[in-house]
Amino acid sequence: MFQPSSEKIVLASGNPGKIKEIQAILTDFSIIPQQLFNIPEAEETGSTFIENAIIKARNAALHSKLPAIADDSGLVVDTLNGAPGVISARYAGTQATDQQNLQKLLDAMQGIPKAQRSARFICVIVLLRHADDPFPLISQGSWEGTILSYAKGTHGFGYDPVFWLASENCSSAELSTQRKNQLSHRGQALRHLASLL
Ligand code: IMP
Repeated sequence: MFQPSSEKIVLASGNPGKIKEIQAILTDFSIIPQQLFNIPEAEETGSTFIENAIIKARNAALHSKLPAIADDSGLVVDTLNGAPGVISARYAGTQATDQQNLQKLLDAMQGIPKAQRSARFICVIVLLRHADDPFPLISQGSWEGTILSYAKGTHGFGYDPVFWLASENCSSAELSTQRKNQLSHRGQALRHLASLL
């Protein structure tokens, strides 16, 4: 399907961390951020991670005329019926900071007993060979944890300081980057995508 040796794939993200992470795993391909093509951001109108990843990848493939990868990720909390879910990045408003989103989650979880604080990070990665590709490659990762009642740790981003990992006896904001990549939803999804390619 793809011929390794620096085939170009556009990444529907400008996040330098994501670009680095994806390039490090998909070493046979040249990952190009969509900004280099002046591609307008797609509106994430889907109600699932898969829909939003497809929307973003299709937009990037359409404008670049190249294969495109997009990821969509977020936190799913059981007792909140799956919130913040696909709006994890804008839970406290469209311009909300990580800190504001995290605070909103802590407020929503106040008084919830320990046994009902289960949650997971989800990451979906989609690769479209072209904008009209009817059979995208889809890879998913899921990382189980529970939500703390206070923030703990300074690494990572987003909801990491409140995501408790019993098996590691720490929050995901207390993990090294390397350990987080081994365990995380994004690491799982990326390695699976590499195996599909
Ligand atoms: P997006 O996939 O770039 O739209 O980001 C989704 C949002 O989910 C981020 O802004 C974070 O709030 C949250 N999120 C996704 N992955 C992680 C993670 O590994 N740690 C903490 N928060 C995350």
